[in-house]
Amino acid sequence: MDHGRPAGARRGLQRRDAPLLAADDPVPVTNKDGREFISHQPERNAEGSGNVGVFAAQTSELLGGCGFRGLEAERTEFGYWVASAERGRGIAPRALILLVRWVVENTVAKRLQLHADVENTASQRVAEKAGFTREGVQRGWLEVRGERRDMVSYSLLADEIR
Ligand SMILES: CC(C)(COP(=O)(O)OP(=O)(O)OC[C@H]1O[C@@H](n2cnc3c(N)ncnc32)[C@H](O)[C@@H]1OP(=O)(O)O)[C@@H](O)C(=O)NCCC(=O)NCCS
Repeated sequence: MDHGRPAGARRGLQRRDAPLLAADDPVPVTNKDGREFISHQPERNAEGSGNVGVFAAQTSELLGGCGFRGLEAERTEFGYWVASAERGRGIAPRALILLVRWVVENTVAKRLQLHADVENTASQRVAEKAGFTREGVQRGWLEVRGERRDMVSYSLLADEIR
């Protein structure tokens, strides 16, 4: 049964979606970067990560995405993105809250975590709106296009939900 979902809503990211992922700051993301991210989705899914798309109810247009990957059985890392034209409407926090709830109810995850670039205020706001606690800055946490970036770490414990 389709539960009224618009036709075509269930689809994975495709190469043509790359411009939706493009961003100007804090680290510029180009269409080429977007295509590379999309090309790695199959292996991420094979590793046991999960990704959901956010679609407009009326048009089935892809608005953004939210995903997680299990680091070890009980720790799960989250990430998210929203198409440039759709930002500022609270899409990412709503998607994150729903996915967090699903993960807690359907997996053994006990610690949910995410990392946001120190300059990525928008991402930090999403974490805070979804109830994550800021823990501190992890220096040189990740290499992003050839540059080691400091990241703010956030966590939410399964017991803190509900
Ligand atoms: C981070 C991101 C997912 C936020 O999604 P969103 O659905 O716009 O989230 P919100 O609507 O809750 O807005 C979050 C913050 O973005 C900023 N913002 C508001 N309007 C905005 C706009 N039109 N454009 C960009 N940022 C905006 C504000 O700081 C806002 O916080 P506030 O509500 O306290 O003012 C989105 O900016 C994005 O896709 N960025 C590029 C990818 C990325 O950085 N992902 C996170 C990796 S950890």
